[in-house]
Amino acid sequence: MDKLVIEGGKPLSGTIVIQGAKNAALPILAASILAKGTSTIDHVPGLLDIEVMLNILRELGCRAEHTEGTVVLDTLAAHTSHVPESLMKQMRSSIFLMGPLLARFGETQVYLPGGCAIGERKIDLHLEGLKALGAEIEELGNRIICRAEKLVGADIHLSFPSVGATENIMMAAALAEGRTTISGAAREPEIQDLQGFLNAMGAKIIGAGTDTITVDGVQSLTSCRYQIIPDRIVAGTLMLAAAATRGQVTLQNTKPAHLTSLIHVMRRAGVQIVIDGDIIKVGSSARPKAVERIVTSPYPAFPTDLQSQMMVLLTLADGVSIMKETIFEGRLKHVDELSRMGADIRVDMNAAIVRGVPRLYGATVEATDLRAGAALVIAGLAAQGKTVVEQIHHIDRGYDRIEATLSHLGARISRYSPVPNN
Ligand code: UD1
Repeated sequence: MDKLVIEGGKPLSGTIVIQGAKNAALPILAASILAKGTSTIDHVPGLLDIEVMLNILRELGCRAEHTEGTVVLDTLAAHTSHVPESLMKQMRSSIFLMGPLLARFGETQVYLPGGCAIGERKIDLHLEGLKALGAEIEELGNRIICRAEKLVGADIHLSFPSVGATENIMMAAALAEGRTTISGAAREPEIQDLQGFLNAMGAKIIGAGTDTITVDGVQSLTSCRYQIIPDRIVAGTLMLAAAATRGQVTLQNTKPAHLTSLIHVMRRAGVQIVIDGDIIKVGSSARPKAVERIVTSPYPAFPTDLQSQMMVLLTLADGVSIMKETIFEGRLKHVDELSRMGADIRVDMNAAIVRGVPRLYGATVEATDLRAGAALVIAGLAAQGKTVVEQIHHIDRGYDRIEATLSHLGARISRYSPVPNN
């Protein structure tokens, strides 16, 4: 297994261009299957999760090429709506294929995407939404069979604003007969991007970005060319890395409006942030201030996907901060690893009480999930001495060669791959 070795203590400095958003690209690639033809998607990041999605699409009969950030995806020859269990299990986002496959083929067979290190991650809202559109759903162990002779628009209320369920329902409803209204919808920017893509294919959807989305079903969709939005979580991770190392970093290709809650919290921590169009400049030279209370909640509140990275900054702050995680119950596993680096954190139910320390110290730590892994990298960059981050395949799911990005900003970081035996 690859690992990252970091010599900490060097402030990051320089300019970096932010990659396209993984969480927008994954549903958009799945949605391509709603049209028969060749779609071209730009700014698709080079990530493990993206490769898994493309492999699933190839398995279904599509032709897919991913070169220099552009995916050319020909869905004409897709001939099956059954996703193999082995591929389904590699990534939770494979569940995004359920709505599009059902809409295109009238049936689909998928498997439960499997447990995840950060919590239970149910799919009941996805299934209820598709049922409301007329699907019959049979659950046989971990196999899910969905059938619908035709999908018919419906009024659907989500009891929780699930990102994935909102997206699955939008994709299926795009080809349903009549109008679908999704109330209690998730409002994340990635949902607006999916709406943009579906409408570019000829769908009639309004409301993404608010809690009510209206989809007027159309008979068919046409392939198109589309560009993915910048990744707000990668941008946020680098902003926090700049602040934790007391560096000066300029991020290009960002959408600052997507980062409002993070910017607000970082400013409260005393970090200087300057916004100029799609550029964000982050600078910090002093010890961060504690932030009394941060609570992760659905967008536009503080994102769960930046909770662990933000916590690293708080471990170095002057004072006591509280970080409460409300989205995923198992998402405080990085606390143990950060403690090994000298952080002073106590967990009480789903809250972490972080007492800032003057410095962290290098250690050998393990990435337990994608964002926890990113947090440990930030901690390693800020720490005194050498940090080894293991299990970095989690990090590769969401960051395109993180060591290259950080080296470009002056970090002393290298990837070590085991030498194959033979
Ligand atoms: C998406 C993001 C992920 C982010 C999360 C929350 C992608 C590919 N991933 O994941 O990075 O952390 O949003 O912002 O876009 N839930 C149910 N029933 C369901 C679905 C969800 O109870 O049918 C619960 C989950 O268990 C969880 C919460 O809702 O507690 C949030 O999940 P959801 O918004 O669906 O997240 P994902 O779409 O899986």
